[in-house]
Amino acid sequence: MSLIKIGVVGAGTMGSGIAQVAATAGHSVVLVDSFPNALIKGKDSIVKSLNKQVEKGIISKETYDAILSRIEFSEDTNSLQGCGLIIEAIIEALSVKQNLFSQVEKLVSDDCILATNTSSLSVVSIASACVKPERVIGIHFFNPATLMPLVELIPALTTDENILIQTKNIIDSWGKKTVIAKDTPGFIVNRIARPYYGEAIRIYEEGVADIATIDWAMKEIGKFKMGPFELMDFIGNDINFKVTETVFEQFFYDPRYKPSFTQKRLYEAKRYGRKSGRGYYDYSPDAIPSMPTKDIILGEQIFQRIIAMLINEAIDALFLKIATRDDIDLAMTKGVNYSKGLLKWADDLGLQQVLNTLENLQSEYGEDRYRPSPLLKRMVREGKTFY
Ligand SMILES: NC(=O)c1ccc[n+]([C@@H]2O[C@H](COP(=O)([O-])OP(=O)(O)OC[C@H]3O[C@@H](n4cnc5c(N)ncnc54)[C@H](O)[C@@H]3O)[C@@H](O)[C@H]2O)c1
Repeated sequence: MSLIKIGVVGAGTMGSGIAQVAATAGHSVVLVDSFPNALIKGKDSIVKSLNKQVEKGIISKETYDAILSRIEFSEDTNSLQGCGLIIEAIIEALSVKQNLFSQVEKLVSDDCILATNTSSLSVVSIASACVKPERVIGIHFFNPATLMPLVELIPALTTDENILIQTKNIIDSWGKKTVIAKDTPGFIVNRIARPYYGEAIRIYEEGVADIATIDWAMKEIGKFKMGPFELMDFIGNDINFKVTETVFEQFFYDPRYKPSFTQKRLYEAKRYGRKSGRGYYDYSPDAIPSMPTKDIILGEQIFQRIIAMLINEAIDALFLKIATRDDIDLAMTKGVNYSKGLLKWADDLGLQQVLNTLENLQSEYGEDRYRPSPLLKRMVREGKTFY
């Protein structure tokens, strides 16, 4: 059986990576972008990435040629005709995405699946622009798409169940780990990971510790690959602030997701992080490195506070049926490289301890931000564990 043709729209960071993944899996791919320069840049990044794989001996020169020859680069949306699956990865703007979907729907056959890689918009809001919204689904890759194994699949309220099954089969065949998430803000990873940034900033704002110490605590005690501030500087404080703002708005201003002034001011000062040379840290060549205070008692305090908030988010996502226990844990280990799934972590730390930390914070601050998930309280009451 021959493989379906894949269309990718948007040749930026995500689109070029997704096109490469599909072509590596053996599909013919057409990568469309309305800006010629973007196509040149997209092709460049694919060539660079494949070259690296040849240098490392991961693929042969013949495979490199074969993968590249399977990708057609086009400025013309009409080239999407004949595709069996189209993944949209253009700018994050609802009306622009809706226009594209209604335009593309007219070009393709009835059985073509239309997918969006949106991070923060609801899938159903994009699907609603289509005459056949039942064939629209969210396929959320992580950056870089070529390296990150996780893909969140997001069926919208209107998505046909068969479309989900077909999509899962295709993405699984690309060697990715798929999880299924409800069409809610941040899906799984971007929802549950919010306190990693938010609570770290709060601890810093209160003067409990400086940024280097908070980063040290999370790496040393929690075995996180990057501390929260290093990670925010890596992602870009412009992007991270926008995601925080969007998630907060989309949760109807739930105080748990409230953005911080620290992040907003950094954004306003254009201190975006690594890419702008300065963020929470200074990346200039003559910068004096910030040294952490390696106080293990303080470190433990910081870690317990952030991990309790993360676990609470994971438990609440399970409580609200955003995803299954296994998908929640898989998502955090494969999407953001946590050393352990948060529900497994909850069991290991003890649910009573997590609840105590949250209740202490809630009583100290009197803020809804620290409210424990009803499922956590119920499980403690019933003496249950997740595994
Ligand atoms: N960057 C990330 O870490 C990341 C991760 C997961 C999902 N996403 C999502 O993926 C999507 C793309 O993000 P990105 O970071 O790759 O953006 P990007 O800015 O790097 O690329 C977007 C590309 O879309 C093109 N484009 C814009 N409008 C178009 C149109 N109407 N038709 C065709 N091409 C058009 C632009 O020329 C550009 O090349 C967004 O929805 C984003 O939320 C991003």
